[in-house]
Amino acid sequence: MDFVKAYHLSQFIDTFALGHYARVLEAQDLQTGQTVAFKVLRPEHVDYGDEPRWEYRAFANEVELLATLADVPQAVDLLDCGYISAGEEAPQGGEIISFRLDTLGFEQAMREMAAQGWRPYITMPALPRNQNLFYVMRSNQAAVRWRLPSEEGLSLALQFGHLLEQAHRRGIVYLDHKLEHVYWDGNRLIVIDFNSSRKLNGGVADPQSFRMDIHNLCVGILYSVFT
Ligand SMILES: Nc1ncnc2c1ncn2[C@@H]1O[C@H](COP(=O)(O)OP(=O)(O)O)[C@@H](O)[C@H]1O
Ligand SMILES: [Mg+2]
Repeated sequence: MDFVKAYHLSQFIDTFALGHYARVLEAQDLQTGQTVAFKVLRPEHVDYGDEPRWEYRAFANEVELLATLADVPQAVDLLDCGYISAGEEAPQGGEIISFRLDTLGFEQAMREMAAQGWRPYITMPALPRNQNLFYVMRSNQAAVRWRLPSEEGLSLALQFGHLLEQAHRRGIVYLDHKLEHVYWDGNRLIVIDFNSSRKLNGGVADPQSFRMDIHNLCVGILYSVFT
């Protein structure tokens, strides 16, 4: 299918907190009419040796984990996943193969798509920039430290705890606690970026890494929220 028939891209929305793996643009999903965040592998990671690079494989990992956590309200919703042929950072045209929520189909196609130089993408609801905790806390301004009201901080902490509890029960450790991965509207927490997260072998309990995940919530997020 033609890319321009599937998505209409507008501006980059990752500019205040660039990630290593991906670029993220606001887009309109022309099938559903919904405004979405379109997260696509950076062009520099597409090179194919014997194996797709780990940045490439991280998309399959993220898709699998988001599908596993689909019923947990604090994990961002996955709306679509697939591959595009365009090589530009902001794709201009070319072809798209969309798997929607057929996450197994997406994973099975990965090797072949990588060999052809196509790039993986996922889409999620577009979350408002002014609800990103990195933005809320003004973390990009030297010498400025904001904090949340204590009751909001407590609610955020409990909701993050719920997400980790559900993830750990399914053998998943989050691992990537950063302010820029957390959205807070004053009431409801949504966490993004599961491509560095890990599903432990067979979901076997590993108390040490679960404890570290909770520790990282405290130092990576809650310290900034409460102090
Ligand atoms: N669903 C979303 N809605 C709005 N902005 C998003 C969304 N997902 C990602 N972003 C923005 O893009 C940035 C990079 O996305 P992220 O998933 O962290 O990519 P990476 O895997 O490269 O670290 C985020 O810090 C955030 O600013
Ligand atoms: Mg990130």
